[in-house]
Amino acid sequence: MPIFEITLITLILLMGASIVWYTLLLGISPMPSSNKAQTAMLHLSTLANTHVESDRDFKKGPIVELGSGWGNLLIAFAKQYPQQNIVGYELSLLPWLTSLLFIKILGLKNITLHRKDFLKADLSQASLILCYLYPGAMLKIENKLKKEPGLLKYLISHNFSLPSHQAINTIQLDDLYRSPVYLYQFQKALQ
Ligand SMILES: C[S@@+](CC[C@H](N)C(=O)[O-])C[C@H]1O[C@@H](n2cnc3c(N)ncnc32)[C@H](O)[C@@H]1O
Repeated sequence: MPIFEITLITLILLMGASIVWYTLLLGISPMPSSNKAQTAMLHLSTLANTHVESDRDFKKGPIVELGSGWGNLLIAFAKQYPQQNIVGYELSLLPWLTSLLFIKILGLKNITLHRKDFLKADLSQASLILCYLYPGAMLKIENKLKKEPGLLKYLISHNFSLPSHQAINTIQLDDLYRSPVYLYQFQKALQ
């Protein structure tokens, strides 16, 4: 077999192994939110933003995505909110590298992408958090936010709810699973 084909197959196998490794390590694959979910999250963010803008005392912190995967949501939010900082945390190597590449190609200067465990990140300055994770992670996030109060006012979660908070708005997607997208408002409740 020619060297080029061997190198290509090895690369594909290594990329596949990397995705499987991080999926097992983190408990979730880098499956991106669907277009419908993305539209719903952008819509809910406009509701949150309207509240924030009417609150004169509120300092607008960055929009932070926990587990930003391949970067689709980061890019969509960066385009919708060009004046705001959009911060992503992603640990899985290949999705992180791919999103970094797209962010550079698109020249989106308002995105900061970290290859870091979001549970170890300082989220106190975030004004809006985005996530599409799994029930265990929602519990960990809720506990983390309780321990580290800050600016945070809103959280939008695709598919998975926070265990002990009531969403202020929910959009049910018109997809196979009728997936919910939740908007939570914290006000001072977590502080
Ligand atoms: C289902 S994907 C969602 C991707 C993206 N948020 C979206 O909605 O399109 C979840 C992502 O979270 C990442 N992830 C899970 N736990 C993480 C952690 N503790 N720190 C950083 N990234 C994490 C996974 O690697 C995966 O890419």
